[in-house]
Amino acid sequence: MLVDGFGRQIRYLRISLTDKCNLRCRYCVPEEGVVIKPHIDLLTLEEVERTAAVLTGLGIEKIRFTGGEPLVRRGAVSVIRSVASLPSKPSVGLTTNGVLLNENLHDLMSCGLSGINISLDTLRDDVYGKITGFPVLPQVLSAVHACIDSGITLKINAVPMKGINEEDIPALAQFSRDNDMAVRFIELMPMGCASAFTGIPNDEVMKMLCDRFGSPAALTAVPEDGPASYVQFQGFKGRVGFISPLTHRFCGSCDRIRLTCDGRLKLCLASPVSLDLRSLLRSGASDEDIAAAVAGALKDKPAGHEFINKKCDQNMIGIGG
Ligand code: 5AD
Ligand code: SF4
Repeated sequence: MLVDGFGRQIRYLRISLTDKCNLRCRYCVPEEGVVIKPHIDLLTLEEVERTAAVLTGLGIEKIRFTGGEPLVRRGAVSVIRSVASLPSKPSVGLTTNGVLLNENLHDLMSCGLSGINISLDTLRDDVYGKITGFPVLPQVLSAVHACIDSGITLKINAVPMKGINEEDIPALAQFSRDNDMAVRFIELMPMGCASAFTGIPNDEVMKMLCDRFGSPAALTAVPEDGPASYVQFQGFKGRVGFISPLTHRFCGSCDRIRLTCDGRLKLCLASPVSLDLRSLLRSGASDEDIAAAVAGALKDKPAGHEFINKKCDQNMIGIGG
């Protein structure tokens, strides 16, 4: 079992496969761009698999692949497949912008994924272009519909921002009226270039939705929901979720760590503290050495973020959300 210095049990690992992305969301990638890490610095797919094998052996039960955009990494599907079939059979999810999903969905479906999360902040072509820099909303919507048709567990993640996509909030939520899926609103965290935008507190998002759809039923929290709280509006097939890192800080029950694409084990999204697993992996360390290093590093996992008082200077693209 992995336990941090505050007694929090760590069960959830997010693995960033790459810091590259085929979009440039303005809250994730700074205008001047980012320096892409040289390929030699990235963990190889074998190193990713080994790390996942060691960590699932220690009690990680849930793994999510992120990026950048994970599907731009060659071999992404094969590493997802290997990790999902590790002996402990972790629950494995994928967070993607959806652009490359259509051509990968068939293969992904056979990997035993527990679900796919698609990041989608607007349903308007012009706004999509403004936020992401690319006119690819039709591809993403087609991937959303392909996921719905496939029956895979699907969540849409949307980040509401003042003056940008407020109007899209009810329309995005309506995906869960017609389909058994979740639409989740995530409060914008002031990380790097995201601090140029103003997020919308989830209480306001909820009010907008209640004005439109009436009062929802609150759903009982289940552990798989993580920090999201869910409601269901009357007549809706699916759920609407709220992830509120700023207005309902959930760090006290944090159960996650992150592996960056260059092999740093990050203990908290908002903190630069990390363990250099890549050096360990490349220095001939045994699985036991790695396990001991991880257990030791967890003692330094911070209590939580301080986004309310303090911005964070790291951009999301390098971490993977
Ligand atoms: N605040 C909140 N969510 C963010 N994401 C990216 N940057 C931020 C931010 N600053 C979201 C993406 C994706 C998820 C992994 O994180 O939209 O859905
Ligand atoms: Fe790419 Fe996701 Fe960042 Fe957008 S938010 S630039 S899709 S990694």
